[in-house]
Amino acid sequence: MSSSWLLDTIAHEARRAVEAEARRHTRRVVESAIASVTGMPIPAPTTDRTAMATLPGDGPDGLSIVAREDAVRAYLAQDTIQVAILGAPGTGKTALMLRMADLRHRPTFVLGIPQRALDDAGVGTGAGGWMRAIAPGQLGSVPRDSDVLIDDASQVIGNEEYGTELFEQFRALTENRRHFGIGLILNCQTGKAVNAYALTCELLALKPGCAFFPEQERDGMAPFLREADALYQGMSAEQVHHTVMIYRKWPSLRGPIRYRFPEWFTRRLSAHKAARRLPAIIADSDSVAQGDEDADSPIGAG
Ligand SMILES: Nc1ncnc2c1ncn2[C@@H]1O[C@H](COP(=O)(O)OP(=O)(O)OP(=O)(O)O)[C@@H](O)[C@H]1O
Ligand SMILES: [Mg+2]
Repeated sequence: MSSSWLLDTIAHEARRAVEAEARRHTRRVVESAIASVTGMPIPAPTTDRTAMATLPGDGPDGLSIVAREDAVRAYLAQDTIQVAILGAPGTGKTALMLRMADLRHRPTFVLGIPQRALDDAGVGTGAGGWMRAIAPGQLGSVPRDSDVLIDDASQVIGNEEYGTELFEQFRALTENRRHFGIGLILNCQTGKAVNAYALTCELLALKPGCAFFPEQERDGMAPFLREADALYQGMSAEQVHHTVMIYRKWPSLRGPIRYRFPEWFTRRLSAHKAARRLPAIIADSDSVAQGDEDADSPIGAG
């Protein structure tokens, strides 16, 4: 073994250690900056790195989960991502979006879920919280190195938004997020109802489609939805809630995976009104927190 090879190796390892420490330091500085500018609590280090697929025997036979789970995890571990989750009402889109956010555990800004529901779940503004509800007009001021979640995105950024200030902010977010380390995860009941920029995703997650999905979906989506629907055929609602069909261009990331809900998931997190009315929702959210069923009524009611 030559001594120069040994010295090179030591130097290489030393460089890597210094670079890793520099990255950790930069992250701490960025998180403190975000915390001081936004009041957002610095997320505690993630403790939940357990497998997404934790429902042994709960899926249909033949699900090859482990390889894809690794690929999903690798995808979700990147700073900047864009995920669109589509599917019929009640199929588990919100729960999946929150599970992905849970695995990432970054400072997270949420459109469409009331702050009180996040607080009650223990992930909001209280101690150890890392999620904050924002209004649509705040999309353009989300800080670097954070995540944005949009629940029922058609309520926030529908097809009619072209040319509005909100559209410009949303387009800027989707087009530029990767330069700012921003991750975007959104869900919607049908792709046709949401602004096209919502579907400029890298990863598409399909739950079962609505009853007449080819008509309700954008051109080109039908084959994917048919394939996904075939997977869900015969599954119980519970199994559907915990399964998703993943599509990405790369073969390593196509196919079904199973996952569990975040441990802190509650029904209140998925029972919401139109995000467009978010300030009203926040004001209203006491009644949600107290379990008032009327407060969970669909958009337009009340
Ligand atoms: N704490 C819980 N643990 C497990 N399952 C739950 C829990 N709370 C609710 N659920 C069930 O899981 C489902 C999760 O669905 P979720 O709200 O994520 O669906 P969705 O596709 O977002 O629906 P929508 O289109 O109406 O927004 C709920 O409909 C409910 O039946
Ligand atoms: Mg939902």
